[in-house]
Amino acid sequence: MSLMIPDLENYFRGFIPRREALLLALEEEAARESIPIVGPVVGEFLYLLARATGAKNILELGTASGYSGIYLARALPPVGKLVSLELSADMARRARANFLKAGVAEQVEVREGQALELMAAMTGTFDLIFLDIDKESYAPALPHCRRLLRVGGLLIADNVGFAGADAFNREIFTQPSWRAIHLLAFLPQHSPERDGLSLAVRVE
Ligand SMILES: C[S@@+](CC[C@H](N)C(=O)[O-])C[C@H]1O[C@@H](n2cnc3c(N)ncnc32)[C@H](O)[C@@H]1O
Repeated sequence: MSLMIPDLENYFRGFIPRREALLLALEEEAARESIPIVGPVVGEFLYLLARATGAKNILELGTASGYSGIYLARALPPVGKLVSLELSADMARRARANFLKAGVAEQVEVREGQALELMAAMTGTFDLIFLDIDKESYAPALPHCRRLLRVGGLLIADNVGFAGADAFNREIFTQPSWRAIHLLAFLPQHSPERDGLSLAVRVE
């Protein structure tokens, strides 16, 4: 007899965190318009990681409609700040409206443009960076993440099961600046539901 609960994936669908009408509406919109948001499990995971690490300054790459940003912003202390980078002017406009509705607009700054260019021009130190742009940009973004993240800071990368993330996966696994793991996970309502997540701490 197996020691495991049968049909684990359906079983864990019973543990999707509850969320309010705004987040549910953003999920419906994302499904309708094929906006690849992280969904409620990774959203809550981001909240937990940001909260548990006490992150005060967070950088997000890939705002989309602001769904993951709402989870991250809600984990901030009152003095904290989220900077979120987004290529699409339409998405940036929608995200700003959603941050207002979520009551976090004062703590969130959405910057429009190509994330790699925006990062190259940035200074400052972040406690946590969340990487969720086009996967081919993950590896080129890594030196910027290292420069902008404090030693001891946390880098979270979504969708590392995508072929485009392969170079990033190999680099973060081998570079001495990082201690990293890759988790292959079942993530209900994530796009896609079976995917990899990478967690890394900058160690030098
Ligand atoms: C996967 S979605 C982000 C989803 C969002 N993090 C969430 O879960 O709610 C990726 C977003 O990043 C933007 N994007 C893709 N490549 C980018 C780049 N190189 N620089 C800036 N934004 C980019 C896309 O326009 C899209 O809105």
